[in-house]
Amino acid sequence: MTLTMAWSSRPGPNCANVSPLEHRDHIHSYGPVIMNKPHVSIGLVNPKTPVNVDGIMRASGCYRVDSVFYTGRRYELAAKSGEAQYQVDTKAAAKRIPLTGVNCLLEHMPANAKLICVDLVEGATPLPEFEHPQNAFYVFGPEDGTIGQQLIDRADAVVYVPTVGCMNLAASVNVLLYDRLAKSSQMIAGDALIRQSRDNNNRVRVKPQRA
Ligand SMILES: C[S@@+](CC[C@H](N)C(=O)[O-])C[C@H]1O[C@@H](n2cnc3c(N)ncnc32)[C@H](O)[C@@H]1O
Repeated sequence: MTLTMAWSSRPGPNCANVSPLEHRDHIHSYGPVIMNKPHVSIGLVNPKTPVNVDGIMRASGCYRVDSVFYTGRRYELAAKSGEAQYQVDTKAAAKRIPLTGVNCLLEHMPANAKLICVDLVEGATPLPEFEHPQNAFYVFGPEDGTIGQQLIDRADAVVYVPTVGCMNLAASVNVLLYDRLAKSSQMIAGDALIRQSRDNNNRVRVKPQRA
């Protein structure tokens, strides 16, 4: 697991210095935001479980996310504590995708991205009805909490998955990214991708239908 820690010393943890109308002036360009190439970043509010962050890194590799940011110290402390954790990111996506600890997610909005908060929030749009923006910064809440009202108020959209009860954090990231993929006009599918994506020991195939 690769941990990149980049604690900004500027604004406080609640983004106190970033006013609602200003937050787009604080955008950073993490990696080149190439014209026409959709840019997807994920923001995690104070996650606590390495197994979840690991799962989110794996999902980020599968769905071609460009970068992941998180706030808070809990993940970092738990990851360092050496407690037994399941290795979920077996594809080592965290070696390719930057995972960065920050004080304020709004300060790390990728250029031209829309802020999309994903949580069970009254008044939110059901994900099946949502049209994803080309460039998006999807923010998720912690395992034991919710995205704060301050961030919700600044979002371009707030979406939820109409589940019975809430999902696990990493599961919700997977569902969101799958929904984006399923609605994308640039989806590449087929046997070549299956061969490239599957495990080495997987040679199973669908039998051709008999006439
Ligand atoms: C375990 S949930 C935390 C509890 C959740 N905030 C609630 O009010 O029930 C962790 C995070 O997963 C995401 N999540 C879980 N279920 C979701 C759902 N049905 N729709 C949207 N986001 C969900 C949210 O980002 C949430 O903050």
